[in-house]
Amino acid sequence: MNKWRILVADELSPEGLELLSSAGEVTVAKGMSEEALREAVADQHALIVRSATKVTARSLELANDLAVIGRAGIGIDNIDVEAATQRGIVVMNTPEAGATTTGELAISLMLSLARHIPAADASMKAGQWDKKAFTGAELTGKTMGVIGLGRIGQVVAERAKGLHMEVIAHDPHLDQAQAPPWVRMTTLDELLAESDFVSVHVPLMEQTRHLLDRARIQKMKPGARLIHAARGGIVDDDALCDALDSGHLAGAALDVFEVEPPPAGHRLLTTPNLVMTPHLGASTREAKRAVSVEMARQVVTCLKRGIALNGINVPRVAPGEAARLEPFLNLAHNLASFLVQTHGDPLKSMRLTLQGDLPASAQRPLTVAMLAGGLQHRVDGVVTPVNAEQHARDSNTRVHVEQSTLKHDFVHLIRVEAVLGEVRHSVTGTVLGNRHIRMIELDGFMLDAIPEGPMLVTWHRDTPGVVGKIGTMIGQQDINIERLQLGGSDNEQGLAMAIWNLSAALTPAAIEELRADEEIVEAFRVSI
Ligand code: 3PG
Repeated sequence: MNKWRILVADELSPEGLELLSSAGEVTVAKGMSEEALREAVADQHALIVRSATKVTARSLELANDLAVIGRAGIGIDNIDVEAATQRGIVVMNTPEAGATTTGELAISLMLSLARHIPAADASMKAGQWDKKAFTGAELTGKTMGVIGLGRIGQVVAERAKGLHMEVIAHDPHLDQAQAPPWVRMTTLDELLAESDFVSVHVPLMEQTRHLLDRARIQKMKPGARLIHAARGGIVDDDALCDALDSGHLAGAALDVFEVEPPPAGHRLLTTPNLVMTPHLGASTREAKRAVSVEMARQVVTCLKRGIALNGINVPRVAPGEAARLEPFLNLAHNLASFLVQTHGDPLKSMRLTLQGDLPASAQRPLTVAMLAGGLQHRVDGVVTPVNAEQHARDSNTRVHVEQSTLKHDFVHLIRVEAVLGEVRHSVTGTVLGNRHIRMIELDGFMLDAIPEGPMLVTWHRDTPGVVGKIGTMIGQQDINIERLQLGGSDNEQGLAMAIWNLSAALTPAAIEELRADEEIVEAFRVSI
């Protein structure tokens, strides 16, 4: 039976569901009330939502096994992140997969607005042929002001450049040196005063609520047009209606609203020169598939390996570093998991040593990955990247990290040491070709092993026939040996060690049988 239980509470593409099903038991239950969600999530390990389901503090009260909440999309304002963090639950989103679709919608809205396409279409369908009423504006040579030059803002800026517009941008997190050379960075006031079109691409947070309030809308160039496909609440909808009514702005296009949907009779619905779409930013076939598959992949990675890619409430991996760092996070996690499973004694401390040009910002995420890998075998409850450091404190496991400048034969090395009982054990690994993780040393034995899947680790007499004997015993269990790595012996005891990657885990009884053989000094099963 599959181990993980995953609740999908909003729409997810078949490809995403298939990926999840290969890792666990998936329940799909859409449109749940807060009460129903509270009950349904009680025995689940993962919850996946889009924007429809509200994940409140109350709905998480019974979620004792929940390790991760995945938001298949970008905005996380429907999730009480603080309540999740307090319960040790990782919250993650898919910022990359939703960028193109939203950026393209903003450009579509700008074109519709500039040429009155929705109104012209409606007038033709009402039997009219009115060319005069729909005189539009050209985009070529006009100034596009992008507020927020993150992933979506950059998509918009690039497309606007392709339409021969001048692009200026405002982003408090980005200076001119970090922006593309053809984008001029400005203050918000300059941007509002200079732009013919303004497009908003910031998340909704306390600092951005009503970022475009009445005063700022008044600072916009007379006759300018506003495009807003970010989040309801960033623009003051009422002030915008006034600016359109008075003719200060020539038009606006909104995909998001302070209240969604705007209630019947709301003035937005009758304001002139306003184009509206019902929050369609992420609604393309490609994006629905991409966010679903990406979220399914991230949730499975988080459940299986305790690694939170695009985690909101975990030590952050620097933007752009996630893809490069992912195999190193896997390596730190798997080495620690391996080491702790190969000795039964109490875990007292763990040390992580990094060698090579891994950025200093990677230290904490790698430490957390190591802790999640090691502690999951030693503490009660689910260990996630959110609570791994807390579990270390609670279990009195001392943690050390260091970056070594020693030169060696590998581009990067990660070394995990653990004091188990009174003995310090170590394991070292590397990443080959930016993808493939390898264990190259275990307690002084040099190796080239893959620390993944079900394994057997043996320490045995280094005499002819022993490896064959162990292999025969494994075969008798109807288990296939997929890879075998022998660690040489120049030790005084004449011991060798071997790591056997198997098609399935050996039973505890089979391990006991191996241990009973006088030529086999120790045998452990390891599963990663
Ligand atoms: C997002 O934040 O990804 C968009 O607003 C889309 O949300 P959705 O899940 O409602 O399509």
